[in-house]
Amino acid sequence: ETGYTTYDDGLANTASTMSAITYIDGDAGVLRYRGYPIEQLAKESTFLETAYLVIYGELPTAAELATWEDRIRRKTMVDERMREFFKMFPRRSHPMPVLASGLMMLSTYSFDSVDYTPEAIEKATERLIAKVPTLAAYGYKNSRGEAMLYPDNSLSYIENFLRMSFAYPTEPYEFHDEITRALDVLLILHADHEQNCSTSTVRLIGSSGANIYASVAGGVNALSGPLHGGANQAVVEMLSAIKESGISVKEYVQQVKDKKAGIKLMGFGHRIYKNYDPRAAIIKEHADKVMSLKAGRRDLLKLAQELEHAALEDDYFTERKLYPNVDFYSGLIYEAMGFPKEMFTVLFAIGRLPGWIAQWRELVTNPKRKIGRPRQIYIGEGERDYVPLGDR
Ligand code: SDX
Repeated sequence: ETGYTTYDDGLANTASTMSAITYIDGDAGVLRYRGYPIEQLAKESTFLETAYLVIYGELPTAAELATWEDRIRRKTMVDERMREFFKMFPRRSHPMPVLASGLMMLSTYSFDSVDYTPEAIEKATERLIAKVPTLAAYGYKNSRGEAMLYPDNSLSYIENFLRMSFAYPTEPYEFHDEITRALDVLLILHADHEQNCSTSTVRLIGSSGANIYASVAGGVNALSGPLHGGANQAVVEMLSAIKESGISVKEYVQQVKDKKAGIKLMGFGHRIYKNYDPRAAIIKEHADKVMSLKAGRRDLLKLAQELEHAALEDDYFTERKLYPNVDFYSGLIYEAMGFPKEMFTVLFAIGRLPGWIAQWRELVTNPKRKIGRPRQIYIGEGERDYVPLGDR
């Protein structure tokens, strides 16, 4: 009697939009950005080049790439007062809400009058790609009570972020090509993923006419949930808890199967991939390389591999098509690089930024765009009259 065509809890079977950015075949474990398989991009491309591809739709020529890198290099600084603003957050503030707050600070410049001219969209695009790593590093340093370092534009995009995160005014950061390349690849693998929870949030906010900074801030907040981007932090917390509890992999897997206290095998399962997440396979390759270099928690990596093996041998998981997703191994690599678990989802956000920007641009340049407003199935009370307080 509702007259609605479908009721689709969690929009699992509803196409909320048409998009030319990312193609996923969940059953076959295929992921392509603008038609290019991520396996090739992870091998051949850089994150900044992939960001260009995701946003503009084509791989850049050498000249276009040089111009793009120069545009980004010139915008890495943020307003000096942002440093004071970040210092207002208590020490050990989680860097995700700090990043979202920094984005809202950026949105104050153009909160009321969203300008959809190509020039304005280009300016916002390069400001976000250039400044988010600086905001992320500021949030991280401030949470540790350490000096926030200015960007050094003689460095590459990834090196600049690593240095702002780990160097001190008194101590330089020692670069390792394998670490820099591993972070480049990890960010490539996170660049877009069609209409996931945080991207759908960016589109929904953008559909109301809100500016891109406020839309992306919403995406950061959606990403922070442990069922979405926050899973990379939850995986390492799960592995550490298993280690500390001393229970065996077999016992933990049984607790998950018994749905004890609602625990899940974090980093496993996916709304779309009913096969191995192709990103997880690539990330796993880098785990060993990075951990041979840096003192990563090899004990947790071993535990993760045992958990994966146990789950993939168990009908409970294979019947439900539960396989490792992008978050299962990424946190272990980030931790080996020196990031604390609270920064893992910030790194996911830096990687997902080109996708959020590309999807917002695709939305606002679509002349037929509609404001997001799904209907519902009402299951509440029927009409009833007000009861005065004395009669309740
Ligand atoms: C990301 O959408 C994207 O693209 C997201 C992402 C991206 O790039 O943007 O890929 C990034 O968010 C990856 C997912 C990270 N989240 C986690 O790793 C958290 C753990 N995973 C689950 O919460 C879950 O798998 C979801 C939320 C990811 C997907 O859930 P679904 O597809 O809605 O599955 P469901 O909740 O309907 O569960 C189906 C069955 C249930 O069992 P039964 O009720 O049938 O007995 O599978 C079980 C669930 O209990 N199940 C799990 C499980 N995930 C689902 N059981 C144990 N451990 C799990 N992780």
